[in-house]
Amino acid sequence: MKTILCIGAGYVGGPTMAMIALKCPEYRVVVVDIDAERIRAWQSDRLPIYEPGLDRVVKAALNRNLFFSTDITSSIAEADIIFVSVNTPTKTFGQGSGRAADLQFWEKTAREILAHSTTDKIVVEKSTLPVRTAEAMERILHSGRAGVHFEVLSNPEFLAEGTAVRDLENPDRVLIGGHDTDSGRRAVAELVSIYAHWVPRDRILTASVWSSELSKLAANAFLAQRISSINSLSALCEHTEADVSEVARAIGMDNRIGPRFLNASVGFGGSCFKKDILNLVYLCDHYGLHEVAAYWEQVVKMNEYQEDRFVQNVIASMFNTVAGKRIAVFGFAFKADTGDTRESPAIRVVRGLVAERAQVVVTDPQALGNAHRDLADLGDAVTFEIDPVKAAVGAHALAVMTEWSDYERLDYRRIYGDMVKPAFVFDGRNRLNHRALFDLGFNVYPIGKKPLSHL
Ligand code: UDX
Ligand code: ADP
Repeated sequence: MKTILCIGAGYVGGPTMAMIALKCPEYRVVVVDIDAERIRAWQSDRLPIYEPGLDRVVKAALNRNLFFSTDITSSIAEADIIFVSVNTPTKTFGQGSGRAADLQFWEKTAREILAHSTTDKIVVEKSTLPVRTAEAMERILHSGRAGVHFEVLSNPEFLAEGTAVRDLENPDRVLIGGHDTDSGRRAVAELVSIYAHWVPRDRILTASVWSSELSKLAANAFLAQRISSINSLSALCEHTEADVSEVARAIGMDNRIGPRFLNASVGFGGSCFKKDILNLVYLCDHYGLHEVAAYWEQVVKMNEYQEDRFVQNVIASMFNTVAGKRIAVFGFAFKADTGDTRESPAIRVVRGLVAERAQVVVTDPQALGNAHRDLADLGDAVTFEIDPVKAAVGAHALAVMTEWSDYERLDYRRIYGDMVKPAFVFDGRNRLNHRALFDLGFNVYPIGKKPLSHL
């Protein structure tokens, strides 16, 4: 039985390996991490990440051919194929700080693989990485004892949080980058055969390692660019009485444009978009392509502008002051169906409101633990409440940050009754029934649409 190892049991490594184990019972799949608590959680009934349907996949394979462990050393020694899925955050120090990828965890892993390998291995980059990282990895791996061969492949993960299981089970495509050499082609064929257990063969693409690495950055940059593009128009809509949803619908019906990722919002969040674009920007600057860098950097700037604009709208609409006012923030996760708050627009919005001395109460069905950590330094200015109806009691305004479907079904008549008047709703996701809220008495401020105001 061949053994697949994954180093890093995070958002990408855990679900991906669970799916491979489920679909490929003839492989032994081991997932390791330095974080013992995380490993224990993967083995328990309460997984370390919230993903609809993931419990079922993990349960089906756990201790059959899926194992979680902290024993990195011997797992490396026993593995035939090693996926590397450790975190690659944005650097916070030194050269490229705030933009370049921090590759220290990555390099440490490469050195560990080298130190504990006595047989040939296929090493698969699963984390999103700057283009040509595989080259650095190969240099490290081949600096050791002669006789052990490492074949490095790139196999970026395109799953989105909240839909991880669906995306893994039925991906638009699987991309595998390898070198055009005998051993490179053999390694690619082996990885193709693993995915071919459940992915139609015409959706498994092969490419060069460098194309594969760049495609992942490019895919995220294009997706984020669509959101920044529609968000830029939302600002114009608010001044011209055009409706951003109508505009999105009209342009999205053009087959060449397509309807997805055109929902105007308070901004995009998540661990990937900003990080990957800044990484792309850094690479372009590194190669002297400053115009290309500036072009992509604007996608991130537009997103920050959209978050700041949201806060300014709240303040301006509430008679130019929110000092001492209670504002209930509905949702803190960066999107629905996840507890993840990394780069969530809610973080910047709450901080902006607190800077104006608002009293903020945050509610979210899954993300309150993370919200506590993200806002720990704000002290008494922020409180937390799991029940949105309770969060709204005594509030002057509701600010919807996450498109949780629960928020569409709340008893807004009761909520309105419990709020200070005039009561405001700022819908950062355009998901509530604005007309109905207006009819209840709320002053409603959507994104990219004319406000419905009684004032
Ligand atoms: C993204 C990519 O979709 C995925 O392919 C990649 O592997 C990782 O990055 P993810 O960050 O999980 O996935 O979430 P995604 O669904 O792409 O949403 C990102 C952000 O954009 C969220 O904050 C979401 O609310 C926002 N968004 C999305 C919008 O504001 N409008 C839209 O139309 C779509
Ligand atoms: P991603 O979203 O890319 O999956 P995460 O931060 O969720 O990123 O997960 C990365 C995981 O990698 C974390 O659980 C972290 O503890 C783990 N990790 C980082 N460095 C190492 C290492 N050297 N060996 C094993 N695991 C590591």
